[in-house]
Formats: sequence, C-alpha cells, structure tokens
Amino acid sequence: MSINYLNHGNLFTSNITYSIIIVYSILLGGEKMLGKVNQEVIDIEVPGIRVFSNRVTQYEDGVNLTIGEPDFSTPENIKRVGIEAIHKNHTGYTHNAGLLELREAVASFFYDQYHLSYNPENEIIITNGVSQGIDSILRTILQPGDEVIIPAPIYSAYEPIVHLLGAKVIYLNTADNQFQPDPEELERLITDRTKAVILNYPCNPTGTVLSKDLMDEIAAVLDRHEIFVLSDEIYSENMFFEEHHSFASYSELRDKLFLLHGLSKSHAMTGWRIGYILGPKYLMEQVLKVHLYNVICASTPGQYAAIEALQNSRNSPDEMNKAYIERSEYVYKRLKDMGFEVEKPVATFYIFPSIRKFSVSSLEFAERLLEEYHVAIVPGSAFTEFGEGSIRISFANSLENLKEGMDRIEQFISSL
Ligand SMILES: Cc1ncc(COP(=O)(O)O)c(C=O)c1O
Repeated sequence: MSINYLNHGNLFTSNITYSIIIVYSILLGGEKMLGKVNQEVIDIEVPGIRVFSNRVTQYEDGVNLTIGEPDFSTPENIKRVGIEAIHKNHTGYTHNAGLLELREAVASFFYDQYHLSYNPENEIIITNGVSQGIDSILRTILQPGDEVIIPAPIYSAYEPIVHLLGAKVIYLNTADNQFQPDPEELERLITDRTKAVILNYPCNPTGTVLSKDLMDEIAAVLDRHEIFVLSDEIYSENMFFEEHHSFASYSELRDKLFLLHGLSKSHAMTGWRIGYILGPKYLMEQVLKVHLYNVICASTPGQYAAIEALQNSRNSPDEMNKAYIERSEYVYKRLKDMGFEVEKPVATFYIFPSIRKFSVSSLEFAERLLEEYHVAIVPGSAFTEFGEGSIRISFANSLENLKEGMDRIEQFISSL
C-alpha cells in the first residue's frame, strides 16, 4: 500500500486518505484494528529525511546528501572499550540514571568545556540518545492543552511527541529573520498555556548559531516567565570557528532548564544510543521516574564506550570538524557559483540554501532532483512549513560524493 507521507501540513487530506484506507482495509479483512490505533499516531508522518534517503537506494548511481550523521566510524579506542565491556560481561542493567562513572565523566566534560556544574549523583541522566531524553522530559512536564514554543524551521522529532501528549506546538517563524529567533516575537507567543520552549543551537537544519547578545536577550525573556527550557545542544561540538555558548550558562535559568547532549554527532556514535540530560535535582527526580519506566537504563556496553569517549577522545570532534570545514567550504562555493542564496556554514554538517528563485516547492525540487538526477536532499518543508523555500544538504559525506552531487544539482537547476 503506498501512501504519500510527504504531504506535510495537510492533515485534513491525510485524515480523509487514512479513513479511506481504513474502510478499504476492513472490506478486505486486513489491518482491521487500524481504526482503533491512537489517531495522533495515525497522523504522524514518516520523516521527510528518511523518505528521500530510503528512495535514493534504488538507484545504483544514487548520491545521498540527506545524511544526518557523521560519515566517520566511531574512533577505534571507543569501539575497543565497548567490545571489552561485552567480554567483561558488562551486559546487565546499570543504575537507572546510568553508570556513576559515566555521569562523573559527563560532569567533568561539561565543567572543563563549558564551566557548567552539574552533580553526577542527581543532576545527570544517561539516556538512549538525545531522542529519548526529549521524550522523557516532555512526558514529565506536558499535560493536554499545554503549548510548547519552538523556533522553526527545525528538526522534525519534537512535534510528534508534543502532539502525542495532547499538547500543541507553537512555531516561532525564523525564516524571515535569517533563521534567528526574535526575542520580542518569542515574548509575544508566550501565553498562560505555554509550558516550555525548545531551543536547538547550533540548529538542524539551518546550521544557525546565535550570537551571545541574542542569547542574552532570549534568556532575559525566558527568565521573565515560568516556563521550562529544553536546550538541545547536540551539535555544540561541531562548531567550526567560534566557541559554543550554552543556554545552561545562564544561572537565572538553572532551575528550569534541561540541557540535552549526547555522543551521536560529536563522536560518530549514532548507533550506540548514548545521550544525556543535565538539569536541576528537583526536576531530574521526576524525569528519572519516566525514564526508568520507559527504558530502565541506557545500553550498558554503550555507556562504557561513552566513558572512553569523554575521558580519552575529547579531540575527536575537532578532527571531524576539520573535514566538515573543508567540505562545507567546497559546497558553499559551488552553491554560490551556481547562484544560490546561502549562508556559509559555521556549525553542524548541514547547509540550507534558498531555492525560492526557482519558483518550485522544496518538495518538487527534491522529488525531481531525485528522479531525474538521482541525488537525494531533504526538502525544507520536512522541517515544518517555515522551512519551505529551502533545501537541506548534508556535507557529512566524502568530497567525491559532494562533487558529484553538486555537478548534478548544477545540471538540474539549469533545466528548471
Ligand atoms: C537536533 C537533533 N536533536 C537530536 C537528534 C537525535 O540525537 P540522538 O542520536 O542522540 O538521539 C538529532 C539527530 O539528527 C538532531 O538533529
């Protein structure tokens, strides 16, 4: 059964489509329990990123520029410690919050790197990636009817969780402001129903980093209201030219802020599933209850590998960043030479050029580029409606692939 998952934002059409599918399935006698499934789940769309990366595999000469993970292998020493952990039978559950040794390693890393102090005993929880951290925090704080403000375009994984909890996402459009959230607009969107703000800087998909001045202004707004702050800083080690500033460094936000981070991007460890939440003790006690009933603990061999990463491989991100910088400069120059309007990347491994001048939707651009030139990129509309008018290209890819991809994009746009 083929369903067009890409029709973002058109829930009305998708509801009708699903109703037809349900009736059709019932008539045929299959999938008859689909109508009993939580409607919020039925309404969730498969992420646009996955759709294009799956489809490009059907072409032998396909070039996949959708990839949201480092194209490097996990460093050897980290792999070795993970394997040794299995041989030493470190294969049972750990403390629900994670191995104390790992929480201590996380605490030292954040202290050394960002001068942030979190108590490993009760202010850090090791999660199965940032993804599960987001889920556990949102399930701890949200109730039906709550609102969550998120600057957009943005990574698509926050909204479905908010919806599943009966709460609502209010997007703060940054597309007309060089992808920077306007603090006044943020303040305007805050209502009695606002429960939390989710921030993600450096940002996926735009690569945007906020200036210290802008962060000061945003922190001042957040300080004035009784709302939680979730700061997903998973790309903080992928800053190319400047130091990262964390929202957790604002002491006035300390008692309501959750800092999310992990090893997926910094140490090429996406499959190990190790992330962490840092937050104030009185809130982390509550999050821990949700976390432990959901997953008991993070993967044990992965936690041992993570200790090695944080203690002995702190320079791994710098090595990967060298490659990202070279690739980003190449892709940026090629796109500029082709006439794209685009910001030079300063962080992450994404570039987010505008395609407005071609007068096609980002979905049509992506569809045609894939079908006619076998290059997969992600349409901006996969990152909320505010991503429309742009495309996301990942440069977590070899220079050779990037060159091939750019050559084909050049041919494609000359056909538009
Ligand atoms: C902004 C952002 N947060 C979280 C994640 C997921 O991270 P993890 O692998 O730690 O679950 C991603 C993955 O692409 C991401 O881009």
